[in-house]
Amino acid sequence: MQELNDNEKQLVHAVTKLVHLIVCLFFISVVLIILQYTGIPKFTRINNKEALWAQAMAKAAADTGAVKKTNNLWQAPDTTLIATEANHELILYGRELIANTAYYLGPKGKVFQLSNGMNCQNCHLDAGTKAFGNNYSAVAPTYPKFRERSGSVENIYKRVNDCFERSLNGKALDTNGREMQAISAYIKWLGNGLKKGEKPKGSGLTELAYLNRAADPEKGKLVYQQKCRSCHGENGAGVLKPDGIIYQYPPLWGEHSYNIGAGLYRLSRFAGYVKSNMPLGATYDAPQLSDEEAWDVAAFVNSQARPAKDLSKDWPKISGKPVDHPFGPYSDKFNEQQHKYGPFEPIAAVKKKDKNKKQ
Ligand code: HEC
Ligand code: HEC
Repeated sequence: MQELNDNEKQLVHAVTKLVHLIVCLFFISVVLIILQYTGIPKFTRINNKEALWAQAMAKAAADTGAVKKTNNLWQAPDTTLIATEANHELILYGRELIANTAYYLGPKGKVFQLSNGMNCQNCHLDAGTKAFGNNYSAVAPTYPKFRERSGSVENIYKRVNDCFERSLNGKALDTNGREMQAISAYIKWLGNGLKKGEKPKGSGLTELAYLNRAADPEKGKLVYQQKCRSCHGENGAGVLKPDGIIYQYPPLWGEHSYNIGAGLYRLSRFAGYVKSNMPLGATYDAPQLSDEEAWDVAAFVNSQARPAKDLSKDWPKISGKPVDHPFGPYSDKFNEQQHKYGPFEPIAAVKKKDKNKKQ
């Protein structure tokens, strides 16, 4: 047999190496394929949306364990699942608009300038996902619905624009525009997995029991000074971040705050909001204010000056006004002072009697 010269030796060497490599790769592939189909969790292939959802829900349930089992509060779907939606870009934009409204739509907004500098998220905490943090869970399942304030059936667009015109003391968004479509897509996405008409536990705000006296702005002032002023400021004007666009601490009264037509201007809404959410860090399970403190600080904040709004078209049926709507005329004999600060129990009792009479 002829001896191989050096070049030929090198060639044989290289070819042998290549063959080894191919064999190795082949074995690795075989092992991967086997793992894929034998259901070892890391490699489990999830090729449809339902399976992804089921897995995320199971994980969420396991994560919160006992807490979820005992209080059964609504939990927002896992945001990583947004990527599985055909309109995921729209949904993500909607979430961003809710979290950082002022960047896009505030006085220095880069899309439109149509609202005060607040973010939806200042009141709808964690982009509208926090239990008893005024979350949006009940919106997709319950709208369109009849609302006494407008005396009409409202869809999600109308309800969102209510907050633009009142809570953000601004103008309504064009319903067909990308911004409204995005906000509505995100809110609908949050309702995934809920049945039509369902109002999950933990949606909206905490309903506090009425005090047996009127809420007291003087007492509330002390609460404010001790537990709120450090963030929201001596004059309630809040503090902007260094960028001058988004609030670090949003305003509670004054020209940049919500107007007199906003939900928080009703004492029960304000008290319910702060009870489960303020001072920052408070939760439904771990509140930091007594009920009395919550009602009194609500009375103090809502007796400070804030933007006006024409409310002449609101509550076309006056008997539909909630007990704590602070502007007459009323279908009962209680005055504006009592409708604003309470005591609310006597008003509620009369309301209940009237309702029973009608039935
Ligand atoms: C100053 C606080 C505040 C801000 C800011 C705010 N909202 Fe609201 N929003 C409320 C209150 C209060 C309610 C009524 C809650 C209740 O009555 O239980 C509400 C209700 C809603 C609802 C109806 C919820 C339901 O379950 O029926 C939607 C939808 C909504 N807001 C959207 C928005 C959007 C979108 C933004 C931003 C453009 C926004 N809100 C900004 C305070 C605010
Ligand atoms: C440690 C700082 C801090 C303290 C103390 C605090 N807040 Fe807040 N508050 C915030 C922040 C931050 C937000 C907005 C939350 C967000 O955007 O996620 C907020 C939001 C609010 C809102 C809704 C938005 C608005 O501006 O209308 C109200 C109402 C409110 N706080 C009331 C109170 C009251 C009443 C107290 C005292 C009992 C209080 N806060 C104490 C930081 C604080």
